[in-house]
Parts: sequence; C-alpha cells; structure tokens
Amino acid sequence: MSNDPSFLQLIKVHQWLDELFLAHRTALLSLDLSQAKLLFDRYETNLLSHMKDEEESLIPIYGARISDVPGGAVELFIGEHKKIRGFLAEFRQALGELRSQKGLALKHKAIELLDREGMFNGLLQHHHARERNALYPWLDLITSVEERATLLAGCSSLSAYKVALDAGQSAK
Ligand SMILES: [Fe+2]
Ligand SMILES: [Fe+2]
Repeated sequence: MSNDPSFLQLIKVHQWLDELFLAHRTALLSLDLSQAKLLFDRYETNLLSHMKDEEESLIPIYGARISDVPGGAVELFIGEHKKIRGFLAEFRQALGELRSQKGLALKHKAIELLDREGMFNGLLQHHHARERNALYPWLDLITSVEERATLLAGCSSLSAYKVALDAGQSAK
C-alpha cells in the first residue's frame, strides 16, 4: 500500500492547514495581534502554496483526462480558489487595520473578523470536501503509479507539511 502513492495524502495537508488557521483564530480571540498576524502569515503562505500545487500540476491533468464529474468541474475548483484568495486578502488587510484599534472598538473589530473567518471556513470545508470526493480520487484513477509519485513529490505544500510533521512542529 505504501508503494501505491495516492493523492488522498493531500487530505493531511488540508487538516494541517485547518490546524494552522485554528491557531491563528485562537490568537485573534485572545487579542494577541502579533501572534495572530504571525500565524496568519504561516497559514496564508502554505494555503497559497497548496492551491498553486493544485492549479499548476494537478488540475491541468485532471481537466485534460476527464470531464463530466458530478460536482467536480475544473471551473468549480478554480472559482473556489479565487474566492479563497479574495478572503485571504481581506483578512490580511483587516489584521493590519486592527493594530490601530484599542479597547472596545478593537474587540468589536476582532469579532467582525472572526465572523468573516467563520464564513470563509465554511467555504473552505466545502472546497476540501469537493477535492476529497472528486479531484483526488479521480486523479488516482487516471494516473499511473509513476506519475502519482512524481506529481506528489513536486507538491511543495505536501513537502512543507512533512517537514513540519518531522520537526514535531505544532500549529501553535
Ligand atoms: Fe484546492
Ligand atoms: Fe486542496
């Protein structure tokens, strides 16, 4: 089994990303703005890298070799990535603006941001499920063992996840 690489390994990357985001939100809840920003940067970098892996290596093969997958059209994956990038830019800006707030105003702005992040998280979980149910299993079916090994070795987000895991690095 270990000799048969699977794109379902990328579910681990999704889970790791979720942990990083939760750590960021936890810091935000405590109004630890420096830590919230630092953890957001880490989350954003890795999520952008993961979407780049999918858009540059995986989705092109999927789109070229298969079509008419229910709930698995290429446009859906790309469209959701675009929305995700839009949310990330919004959060980056909002985190910057929080720094100029104090007291009750700061708390209210933090609640507003946490609400928006909760909305984003709903979209993201929907997206992860779509990839788990369509993109990754279909990619397993339409690629050879050698291709899977090569493509997965080229996924920088998977490498980053493995490095973090080996280092015993928690999401905190
Ligand atoms: Fe994705
Ligand atoms: Fe993904």
